[in-house]
Amino acid sequence: MKLFDVYPLNDIVIDKAQGSYVWDDKGQQYLDMYGGHAVISIGHTHPHYVKRLEDQLHKVGFYSNSVKIPLQVQLAQKLGEVSGKEDYHLFLCNSGAEANENALKLASFYNGRKKIVAFTKAFHGRTSLAVAVTDNPNIVAPVNQTGNVVFLPFNDEVALEKYFNENGNDISSVIIEGIQGVGGINVANDSFLQKIRSLCDEYNAVYIADSVQCGYGRTGKFYSQDFSGANADIYTMAKGMGNGFPVAGISIAPKLKAKHFMLGTTFGGNHLACAAALSVLEIIEEDALMQNAATVGSYLIEELKKMPKILEVRGRGLMIGIALPDELKEVKKNLLFKHKIFTGESKPNVIRLLPALSISKKEADLFLKALKSELESE
Ligand SMILES: Cc1ncc(COP(=O)(O)O)c(C=O)c1O
Repeated sequence: MKLFDVYPLNDIVIDKAQGSYVWDDKGQQYLDMYGGHAVISIGHTHPHYVKRLEDQLHKVGFYSNSVKIPLQVQLAQKLGEVSGKEDYHLFLCNSGAEANENALKLASFYNGRKKIVAFTKAFHGRTSLAVAVTDNPNIVAPVNQTGNVVFLPFNDEVALEKYFNENGNDISSVIIEGIQGVGGINVANDSFLQKIRSLCDEYNAVYIADSVQCGYGRTGKFYSQDFSGANADIYTMAKGMGNGFPVAGISIAPKLKAKHFMLGTTFGGNHLACAAALSVLEIIEEDALMQNAATVGSYLIEELKKMPKILEVRGRGLMIGIALPDELKEVKKNLLFKHKIFTGESKPNVIRLLPALSISKKEADLFLKALKSELESE
């Protein structure tokens, strides 16, 4: 059997990883400014993370959600503390798409409505409802198409208010990334998120904050939507939550009440996943990683803004987009193959930085130096 060929691959095999570095099978070292797509939050193979997973594996790796799993309770408690949402409730699942799927479903159970408001350039995942609220027709199969979703212009308060005034009583939920990732690092304005909050309150719709990529401390706050000061009803999270172990969740405001069997999963919240997620939160707290993300992120953004050929620098903390002109489309490739630095990308020509939250200023400088030399040589 061969692999189903859905990914354009770089000809690199990663064999070893530590902190903000990875090595290929020939021993070549790379600086990881991509974090395996925003997944590596506390750094690769952090010793506390490795030990907690190892210890857990020796005790029990998995048992189903038909029994009490105290690790889930500990995780909910810790997540409440670190995220500052102690009165919220946690439902655990396995991926970002699944988190959004459950959030949209829960919202619809809550108010009995069907319409969902999403925004231009949004990416929320590839399963049925998650892809239906994703603004990319190329990945929406005919079976995923639904008349229940409307896409409004991102950050357009007037359009949002108008839509609510005309359809408010049919709207189940509004879903928005605090910073659009796949869409090219576009920051939702604080006033836009406040407007979503107030309209959702007025019409009893549910505000869903997709924090799958922009959450888990990456911006210097736990959820990037926190910058607005307006609480969401549901936060969805995944990527950084397990530092590579597949674990995801939704943090649910107290007004949304649970009923037995309304949501469920086989693998979600298993013992190993909880051990991974707990160790991540412990390290975020102990090593003050949110503060580090804010400090090193601001430093990177300031330095990038000084570079003349860059069209625009967008983002917050360690979620940064560097928009380059068309003629500089080789830069990302050269960073990887010449300078041995992994970065992410968005269309049309945006370099995305999503490094581990533990990245040092020295490592940030290595990236800045390489980018500078690349921009000067073009
Ligand atoms: C904002 C956002 N939401 C949801 C997802 C989907 O997550 P997953 O690939 O874990 O299903 C992603 C993945 O890139 C994302 O960036």
